[in-house]
Amino acid sequence: LTDICSDLGDCQRCKLASGRTHIVFGSGQAAAKLMFVGEGPGFEEDQQGEPFVGAAGQLLTKIIAAINLSRKQVYICNIIKCRPPANRNPEPDEIESCLPFLERQIAAIQPDFICALGKIAAQTLLKSDVPISRLRGRFYDYNGIRLMPTYHPAYLLRNPDKKRAVWEDMKMLMKEYRYED
Ligand code: URA
Repeated sequence: LTDICSDLGDCQRCKLASGRTHIVFGSGQAAAKLMFVGEGPGFEEDQQGEPFVGAAGQLLTKIIAAINLSRKQVYICNIIKCRPPANRNPEPDEIESCLPFLERQIAAIQPDFICALGKIAAQTLLKSDVPISRLRGRFYDYNGIRLMPTYHPAYLLRNPDKKRAVWEDMKMLMKEYRYED
C-alpha cells in the first residue's frame, strides 16, 4: 500500500487535481477481510485526507459497529481519490485515471469481501449500468472476492426508509464474514 501511495504521488492524472486539498488514499487495516468502497471524497474528507469522516462517514462508522467491527479492522476507500467540485458525480475520465490505483489496493489487501457503497462504486466495480436498487442485496464475484453492493450512507441520510434494506445487506455480509473466521 505504501508503494501504491507513493506511485500516486502528487497525482496530476486528471482535472480533479487542481481543486483538491488532500488526496484521500484510504485508511484502515492493510490485511482487512472486508473493504468498503465509496464514491469519492466530500468536503471533510478533502480537508482531512481521510475517507468517510463527514456526516455520511459517521453513519458508515455506525454501520460498521452494527456488524460488530470497527473502522480499524476494515479498510475504507473510494473509487476516486480527489474531491470533485461541489461534490458532483465523478466523470468517466476521472474514474478511468483513478481506478488502476484502487485495483492495486484491492490486489494488495486481498480482502474476502468488498462492500460497494452506492451506485458509482457498485456500477464501476461490476462494470454494470443496472440501478443500485436492483444490484443490492446479493453477492457478486469480483475477481474471486465476494462483493455486496448496498446503498450509500449519504443516500440513507436523505432516505432513512432505506436503512432497513442496508441492514438486510449487512446481515448477509456479517453471516458470510463470520463463516470465514
Ligand atoms: N462519500 C464517499 O463516497 N466517500 C467518502 O469518503 C465520503 C463521503
